[in-house]
Amino acid sequence: MERLKGKVAVITGAGSGIGRAAAELMGAEGARIVVADYDTAAAEESAALIEESGGRALPVTVDVTDEGSIADMVNATVREFGALNVLCNHVGGTNPRTDLDLLRLDMDEFHRAVARNVTSTLLGTRHAIPHMLRAGGGSIINTASVAALVGDVLQTSYGAVKAAVVSITKSVAVQYGPQNVRCNAVAPGAVLTPALENNLPRGVIEDLKKGNALPRLGSPEDIGHTMVFLASDESRYLTGQLLVVDGGMTMQSSAAPGRRAQLPG
Ligand SMILES: NC(=O)c1ccc[n+]([C@@H]2O[C@H](COP(=O)([O-])OP(=O)(O)OC[C@H]3O[C@@H](n4cnc5c(N)ncnc54)[C@H](O)[C@@H]3O)[C@@H](O)[C@H]2O)c1
Repeated sequence: MERLKGKVAVITGAGSGIGRAAAELMGAEGARIVVADYDTAAAEESAALIEESGGRALPVTVDVTDEGSIADMVNATVREFGALNVLCNHVGGTNPRTDLDLLRLDMDEFHRAVARNVTSTLLGTRHAIPHMLRAGGGSIINTASVAALVGDVLQTSYGAVKAAVVSITKSVAVQYGPQNVRCNAVAPGAVLTPALENNLPRGVIEDLKKGNALPRLGSPEDIGHTMVFLASDESRYLTGQLLVVDGGMTMQSSAAPGRRAQLPG
């Protein structure tokens, strides 16, 4: 279990949900992890979980909407571990109560969405790349969403900012590929995390399950395993890609759940 041996990985939003799962899985594969989150206690808890399992982790308090805070996170990483090989720009999301349809969405929420999802990804990458260039390469993993691929009745800002994250991913892959810096994005479908469970009514969660080809919703580890692959040299010929990890949600015909019920016997 040493697929990431010798690598230093920074994961933002690693205090909870998918980010914590990715941090634990990467730690178990031998990477030294910077667990970055604006919830200091949550970051410390994730770091403790990694260390209890025999890994190495540094909790760092960061607000990814603040460039100075991002710079401090990157500097703390290099000071503690001497390098930065993997960056997961994972923080994101919008408030579904105010991120509504186009006519009713709250413009302050839109601007916050840009800061939390897009500016954070752009600046995190900008501060990390010089260290990757010095190391002869690196892997950047951006968290997008299936919302970047399909239209929805709500969360107009969320779809827009995640599509921007996919675009940044491709630009970075093209611009720094010659220096061996890879950049890919992951588009999770519905994943059972505190963010999803606190924000969606139970009925909507059941509907999401019906919309999957696989018979369940995702777990944080389902996405974390994909991130381990992208962080590792196993994905060394993969760059500029969006890996859709959604249990078959977006490839399935909308008629499929009904037609499944019509199948004979
Ligand atoms: N859960 C899903 O179904 C799902 C689906 C698609 C995409 N995603 C994406 O996955 C990412 C995380 O989602 P999650 O479900 O794991 O969320 P989560 O709420 O479980 O975890 C998010 C973490 O980010 C931290 N955070 C929030 N704002 C921050 C900031 N400004 N600076 C630093 N840390 C901050 C929080 O403290 C929390 O620990 C987001 O980008 C989200 O859009 C989630």
